[in-house]
Amino acid sequence: VSAQTPAGGLSPDTRKLIAQLVLSAGAVILFVLFAWIVVPGLRREASEPKARPGAQAPTATSAGWLDAAEAPAHPAEEIPPVDPATVLEPTPALLARGKTLFAQNCAACHGPAGRGDGPAAGALNPKPRHFDEAAGWKNGATRAGIYKTLQAGVPGSGMVAYDYLPPKDRMALVHFVRSLGSFDHGTDDAAALKALSEAFASKGGRVPAHIPVSTAMAKLAAEQRARPALALPAETDTSPGTALLRRAVADPARAARFLEGIRGWRDDATTLSAACAAGAPANGFRPAVATFTAGEWRTLQAALAAAGAP
Ligand code: HEC
Repeated sequence: VSAQTPAGGLSPDTRKLIAQLVLSAGAVILFVLFAWIVVPGLRREASEPKARPGAQAPTATSAGWLDAAEAPAHPAEEIPPVDPATVLEPTPALLARGKTLFAQNCAACHGPAGRGDGPAAGALNPKPRHFDEAAGWKNGATRAGIYKTLQAGVPGSGMVAYDYLPPKDRMALVHFVRSLGSFDHGTDDAAALKALSEAFASKGGRVPAHIPVSTAMAKLAAEQRARPALALPAETDTSPGTALLRRAVADPARAARFLEGIRGWRDDATTLSAACAAGAPANGFRPAVATFTAGEWRTLQAALAAAGAP
């Protein structure tokens, strides 16, 4: 017995028992940590409202918010099979549809008339294609060639795939793009036409939900224009409110747009002061507003309302 008992006086059995106790205690501690810290944390996160109070929650009228009723998103939809006979040749209806789609999806780069000179073209290399120039088409200017460009894009360029457009819309674009060029676009060989027809005739899966980018951008632009700037009173007006307004506001138009997105600033001067001071000067207010007293904020609050702030 004495040979197996080490100097510490603990038998192997006792040491085993202690080791097991330590292990179990570790497991219990881990479990308790998990139950007290991790689980409540996860639950708190799940139940927290997504927009925290005081944060600048977008309202239906503020720039950057798309009201679903005004700019309906295209819902996800099944793509119905298309009869190739109805889309292979350009018709006035297809060309009109193509024109609309082009303005919405393509003109930003390719330009309104397809000359490769849209507002976004400058930054691109290679440049967007000029649709009235015959040389250098990578996928070709035939129907199947342009359809392929829309299906897969042109790798290594700004030309991305437009595979979310239904086949019929893509063919409308193909015809419209071809109508922008006066050169000979070439003819599809029989195999290419057959492949194209088969692509239309098969049920093509689902189109994901999306909002046309141009709709979103046009709406943003309209909102930016629609909001009139704050009307700063004339220099001759020397009331305290006017003086404060001049000290506080650097850019009346930007300040008006900013206030439109701040909920409740008319009812609560603290909301107003916190939002204005935190966002200055990008929000149109001067950084000096950080030094305003509570009394000055209340005066400014009234002055802003009088100046027509939304
Ligand atoms: C973000 C900018 C951008 C947008 C938007 C855009 N394109 Fe392009 N597109 C390009 C660029 C850049 C090229 C040139 C690619 C190259 O030459 O490698 C190109 C090339 C093309 C070509 C010629 C492909 C070839 O065979 O060389 C076609 C056809 C085309 N675009 C059609 C469209 C249509 C139709 C739309 C709208 C649905 C559209 N593009 C939207 C940037 C754009």
